Parts: sequence; structure tokens; C-alpha cells
Amino acid sequence: MKLCVIGAGYVGLVSGVCFADLGNDVICVDKNIEKINLLSKGKIPIYEPGLSELVLKNFRNKKLNFSTDLKKSIKNSDIIFICVGTPTKKGGSSANLSQIFNVAKEISTSINKFKIIVTKSTVPITTGDEIEKIISKKNNKNKFSVVSNPEFLREGEAIRDFIYPDRIIIGSNDKKSNRILNNLYNPLISKGAQYLHTSRSAAELIKYASNAFLATKITFINEIANLCEKTGINIEDISIGMGLDKRIGSRFLRAGPAYGGSCFPKDTKAITYTADKFKSNLSVIKSVIKSNKNRSKLLLNRVYEILKRKIKNKKITFLGVTFKANTDDMRDSSSLTMIPALSKKGAIIRYFDPTGFKKEFSKIKNVYNSNTIKKSLEGSDLVIIHTEWNDFKSINFKNLVKGKKFIIYDMRNIYSPKKIRDQGFKYYSVGR
Ligand SMILES: NC(=O)c1ccc[n+]([C@@H]2O[C@H](COP(=O)([O-])OP(=O)(O)OC[C@H]3O[C@@H](n4cnc5c(N)ncnc54)[C@H](O)[C@@H]3O)[C@@H](O)[C@H]2O)c1
Repeated sequence: MKLCVIGAGYVGLVSGVCFADLGNDVICVDKNIEKINLLSKGKIPIYEPGLSELVLKNFRNKKLNFSTDLKKSIKNSDIIFICVGTPTKKGGSSANLSQIFNVAKEISTSINKFKIIVTKSTVPITTGDEIEKIISKKNNKNKFSVVSNPEFLREGEAIRDFIYPDRIIIGSNDKKSNRILNNLYNPLISKGAQYLHTSRSAAELIKYASNAFLATKITFINEIANLCEKTGINIEDISIGMGLDKRIGSRFLRAGPAYGGSCFPKDTKAITYTADKFKSNLSVIKSVIKSNKNRSKLLLNRVYEILKRKIKNKKITFLGVTFKANTDDMRDSSSLTMIPALSKKGAIIRYFDPTGFKKEFSKIKNVYNSNTIKKSLEGSDLVIIHTEWNDFKSINFKNLVKGKKFIIYDMRNIYSPKKIRDQGFKYYSVGR
């Protein structure tokens, strides 16, 4: 099939290349000229394991192409995937849908034959209806169909998640588009992915409800970890003990920093906003948002306590600053709260992240990027393990920085407290 993917970000690029790899002709369009120039030279603007190889392969095979020409790309395609951003509105909590509606307007002027317009971006209930209204201003309704096909991939595991999804949700109000999309996804369905056809609005809500539920699970275990710290119980025992119950499941039950990333924070806010609009109170999710906001403050306060509230001139190392491992995505990472707060109190911060320098900290006083783990640790008073990259899972701290006994605050519970303490380090972790 001829596919056009609008927005070559984490979702668009991964979806585009995976569809191309399944044998479709894909054109990825982005309004960011720099991004398209890089991609057209075979360079990948984001860090996602395996993505570079797959893009190069399909680009060379001419199954995948890149363009900034939206109108032409739409005209040449049968199915259009909208994968643009839906960030939180500035100063509010609802989703900013301007990128979506701008794209819908562009599509409305480029329909030359029947098109299926699929929203992969995460959008609130009724957005599909709005897109349909915009496009029908310039086109007869039998010339197009608007479908919701929310994406569930996780950054860091995106390609695997796309190719082996737990489920494919297609929200369409007509049979024809459902049949065509079922056909498009057939290679994944035949490998075991569940295919669920729902109404368009139900598909939109499934995505938000799923993310809100996962965010709730993380927040729940984080609060139980707080209780464990007060009672001397090991949170790992609780996570394992709870996770063995099949009704609960073990995933998303690992205590750590506040959840972050480009999805959970904005999607939990947006779903409560939508619910309020429909006069329905999602009080559980509202509590989750509040608890998660407090979590960064709580862990920061723990850092102050560990340093006996003497922060000025203390050298603090951050191992990992992204919101999770295997991605370069900094959106809503808890390090964005912690590092500026510590800098404000006079700390000198060095960070090492496997994805390198972060522009987010470039204007913050006394924050420096280190190129190696070793360099980031030199002279440190406190080492904070912020992200669970494999690179940090077997560091021999004693050998790496001889003679220096810094304190370690392991926010991901990577290390065994006993082993680290036996090496002579003061060691703190989460909920144990
Ligand atoms: N990142 C994730 O892990 C993830 C997972 C599932 C769903 N989602 C959802 O998918 C959507 C996209 O997320 P993302 O992380 O890929 O965003 P992103 O910011 O990485 O990418 C969006 C891209 O869209 C482009 N764009 C914006 N307006 C455009 C226009 N008019 N024409 C062409 N290109 C345009 C931007 O330049 C950007 O490159 C969001 O709604 C998000 O909630 C994200």
C-alpha cells in the first residue's frame, strides 16, 4: 500500500520504517526541514535502538522516503497517518491539538481520491469528529474516512513493540476502512497481535485510559515504597509478592523517581481535563498527578537529607538524565526538576548520559556534561543513579575512582545494598 506518515518523530519514524519493512511504500513527511535533510542523508535525528539500521535498509530499498512536501505526499498515498505532537497546552492541562488541526486543514486541500486518514497521535475523545468536520468543509464525505489507531510503542523498545504489539486498536465508524487497515496490519496479526475494532471515540479513550492506568501503577508502588522506607520493609519483596498475582502483574511495579516522558504526564492531565468537560470526575487519576508531582520534591528532599542539608559547593553526579533508559527523550524527565533545584542551592553538577550532552541544562549554572562515567565520578560527593541504563548496572565504583568514598543514591535500585556498603560506600536506594 502507499502510505504517508505525517510527523517524523518517535512515533512517525518508527511506524513509517516498520510499515516500509513490511513491504509498503512509505513517505515520511515533516515540516522540520533540518530533520528531513538529516534523514535524507541516512542520519537519524533521535536515539532509538535498531532504528538507524532499519531506516537505512528501507531507504536504500526505496520503500521509505522523506519529504517536506505534505500536499504532494498526501496526493500520492492511499492511507495517511497523522503522527504529530499533542503536547499539553501552555499554562493548562488539556492537549494542544493545533498540530493535528493544521495537518487536517492541509489534508482537506489535497484529497484527489479516496483516502483513509488515521490518527496515531494520542488525541482526546471527539478529535476524530473534529478532523472529519475540517476535511468535509472541502470534500464530500465519501472521499475519505477518519480512523483512530492509537500507538502503544515504548521509546527504547519501539521497533519491537511496533512489530510485536500486544494489540492493534482500530477505531472506525465504517466497515471499509476497518477492512483495509486489517489488511495492512495482517502481517502483525498473523504473528499473534490481537486486533480490536471499536468506535472511533472508544479507540481514542483506550489510549488515554491505558496510559493513565500504567501511570497509576507506577505511582501506587512509589507510594508503597515511601511506606517501606518508614517501616524497614524491602519494596522489592512487595513488588515481587504483588506481581505474582496474575490479576496485578509484575510490570510497572518498580519503585523509582516520578514518572516522566512524553506521554504519561501530558496524557494523565489531558484525560482528566476531558472528563471534567463531560462533568465526570476522574478522582483517582487526579490523585496520581498530584502524587507524582510531589514525588520529585520528595526525592529531592531525600537528597538534601543525605547531604545533611549542606548543598552549597557539593559535587553531585547524575548517572543518566533521560526519563528512562534507551532513549534520548528528555521530555518531563524528573532530572529537569532535580538538577535546576540543586544548582539553585549551590551544588556543582556533573552528568553522564549515554545519549550525551543535553541542551536543557546548557543555561543552568554549574551543570556540566561528562563524556565518560569515570570523569563524571571524579571528585564527587554524591552520585545519583537516575536512569536504569545497562551502562550503570555493573560499575565497579571502588576501582573506577580510587580512594574516593562518595555517597551513592540509587534511585533505580540497581545495586545490592550489602555489596555496595561492603565496598565502603554509603548507599541509599528507594523503598529499602
Ligand atoms: N513518544 C512516544 O513514546 C509515544 C508513544 C505513543 C504515542 N505517542 C503519541 O504520538 C504523538 C507523536 O509523539 P512523538 O513523540 O512521536 O512526537 P515528536 O515530537 O517526536 O514528533 C512529532 C513530529 O511532528 C512534526 N510535525 C508537527 N507539525 C507538523 C506538520 N504540520 N507537518 C509535518 N510534520 C509536523 C514535528 O516537526 C515532529 O518532528 C503524540 O500524540 C504522542 O502522545 C507517543
